Amino acid sequence: MAIREAALVIYGKTAYDGAGVRLRRVFSRDEAGRFDPFLLLDAFGSDDPQDYLPGFPMHPHRGIETVTWLLEGSVRHGDSLGNGGVIGPGDLQWMSAGSGIIHEEMPQRSPHGVHGLQLWVNLPAREKMRRPAYRGVTAGEVPAVPAGSGTVRVLAGEWGGARGPVVGVSGGPVYLDVELKPGGELTLPAPADRTAFCYLVSGALEPESGKPWAEGSCVLLENGDEAAFRAGPAGARFAFVHAPPLREPIAWGGPIVMNTREELETAFRELDEGTFLRES
Ligand code: FE2
Repeated sequence: MAIREAALVIYGKTAYDGAGVRLRRVFSRDEAGRFDPFLLLDAFGSDDPQDYLPGFPMHPHRGIETVTWLLEGSVRHGDSLGNGGVIGPGDLQWMSAGSGIIHEEMPQRSPHGVHGLQLWVNLPAREKMRRPAYRGVTAGEVPAVPAGSGTVRVLAGEWGGARGPVVGVSGGPVYLDVELKPGGELTLPAPADRTAFCYLVSGALEPESGKPWAEGSCVLLENGDEAAFRAGPAGARFAFVHAPPLREPIAWGGPIVMNTREELETAFRELDEGTFLRES
């Protein structure tokens, strides 16, 4: 077994999206090649309602999956499939846009602000035009596995004999919420043919060499089939995610990601003509 190394440690930069939500774009187009099949990671989070109340009003997606994990606060959502509701801390939405979905995500005024992560996962060419699907998971459905020096909550995939509630997703992604006590150590499997990264929600991790990985950093872990973690003196909470790369061409137009420019042009023409949605 070989332990993966940190190939890239990034923090991202401030961006505004939706109707003016201030967020941190951790990685996006520039890094998507190395993070394949992951396209984008946004950390949204603020205690200031002005930063989050504008929300993400109705907008389309095609060809990707958006995975929203809420850590604090509440977000009201609704989509063209008829799903709707309010999600809270620890809830996860795994939305597979496939051929097309139109949805909105509106953070609600919350006493401790609204904080969370949105990850975009690319769909393989053969599944970009499949039927859209929405999976909503509440915090209570997520199995928590004691891990000696902490807890692993399995959102998607399997670990420690537990299976996450998000199933049937293309590529069999693993999405774990890992909490380690101060100085706690944990080694997790990450098969060599997969792209793996961690994102520090709070606390810090201490790699074998170099500076600690601080809160808000995202670490691409390469070359190995396991990932080893050691928490700093304040402990650590992080997402650990891996999935197989697609190695396909990317044609990216805002919320729509296809393989060719022609497919993008078709999508935008259909939006103009009102024929974008295949399912509703
Ligand atoms: Fe969206």
